This record gives sequence, structure tokens and C-alpha cells, in this order.
Amino acid sequence: MEIREVTRNKKQYLPLLLLADEQEDMIDRYLERGTLYVLEDHGLKCLCVVTEEAGILEIKNLATVPAFQGRGYGKAMIEFLAERYGTRYSLMQVGTGDSPLTIPFYEKCGFAYSHRVEGFFTEHYDHPIFEGGRQLVDMIYLQRPLAQI
Ligand SMILES: CC(C)(COP(=O)(O)OP(=O)(O)OC[C@H]1O[C@@H](n2cnc3c(N)ncnc32)[C@H](O)[C@@H]1OP(=O)(O)O)[C@@H](O)C(=O)NCCC(=O)NCCS
Repeated sequence: MEIREVTRNKKQYLPLLLLADEQEDMIDRYLERGTLYVLEDHGLKCLCVVTEEAGILEIKNLATVPAFQGRGYGKAMIEFLAERYGTRYSLMQVGTGDSPLTIPFYEKCGFAYSHRVEGFFTEHYDHPIFEGGRQLVDMIYLQRPLAQI
């Protein structure tokens, strides 16, 4: 298993990026300025995009290829980020929908609820987004402290 940074032609990963964020112009807001990592294990299995927001490391996109979900790849990506950025940042955060498909995953990875941005999904997306049978309205932020080495 190898995790590497991708600096060129990031849009080649659009199909997998769309799995975590289904509107392309929203992805365009962070893809070029963000850092893209791909996890390969006999082919692409998982990717993520991180940015810095007000001194905090923020996960903007995290997706595992559907056929390979539930095998630890997403968690491996989170642990990679914690190790790589642990000396530079004291906090890692993620904003996600209030969804039973994502929140338990982040809690398993050591994140805890921080705050919410009301109406984020209904304001910024051009169509209603449903996940786990529920319409996403607010953006839920979860945070995890990073060990300062
Ligand atoms: C969320 C996502 C990235 C998780 O990746 P993954 O590779 O399937 O997750 P892992 O296999 O590493 O799971 C890590 C732990 O979380 C748990 N978990 C994952 N999804 C869960 C869920 N929906 N409910 C409860 N637990 C869950 C796993 O059981 C595992 O627990 P364990 O450590 O006790 O074994 C993946 O499901 C995905 O790509 N979803 C679609 C895109 C998306 O919504 N991305 C997030 C938006 S930013």
C-alpha cells in the first residue's frame, strides 16, 4: 500500500472525487489550491484533498472506491494525514453532511463534533443532496487534535 501526492492533472480523479462531493464546481473551489493524496494498493483505492483553513488542516474530500469500502483504506488515509501533518498543525477538521454514512466513520477515526454551519448544503448546492435517505442541510464539522511531536 502506498500513499502519494498528486500535483498534476488532478481532474483525472474526478469520478472518485464526485463520490464524496457530487457537484463539480464545488470541487473546483478547493482542488487546485488543495493537496491531493491517492492511496494505491494494486490500483487506486482511496483519495483525499486537504487544505489549510485559518490555521487548521481541513479534509475537503475523502473517498474510497465503493467495492473496497470497509477495508480500512479510509482510516489508513486519516492516520497518514495525522502523521504527516502532526508537527505542523494542532487540529485536523472535516465538514460533512449530517449523514449516518460518514459521521460514524469520522468518530471511529478519533474525530468529535465541533460545530455546524446551518443551511450550507441548501445554500451552496444547486440541487438537493440526499445521503442515507436523508436530505443534507447543515454542514457538520468534526475535529481531531493532532499530536504535537
Ligand atoms: C466514508 C468513507 C470515506 C469511509 O472509507 P472506508 O475506506 O470505507 O472506511 P474504513 O474501512 O477505513 O473504516 C474505518 C472504520 O469506520 C467504520 N465505518 C465506516 N463507515 C461506517 C458507517 N457508515 N457506519 C459505521 N461505521 C463505519 C468501519 O467499520 C471501520 O471501523 P473499524 O476501525 O472498527 O474496523 C467511504 O465510505 C466513502 O468513500 N464514502 C463515500 C464518500 C463520502 O461520503 N466521503 C466523505 C465525505 S468528505
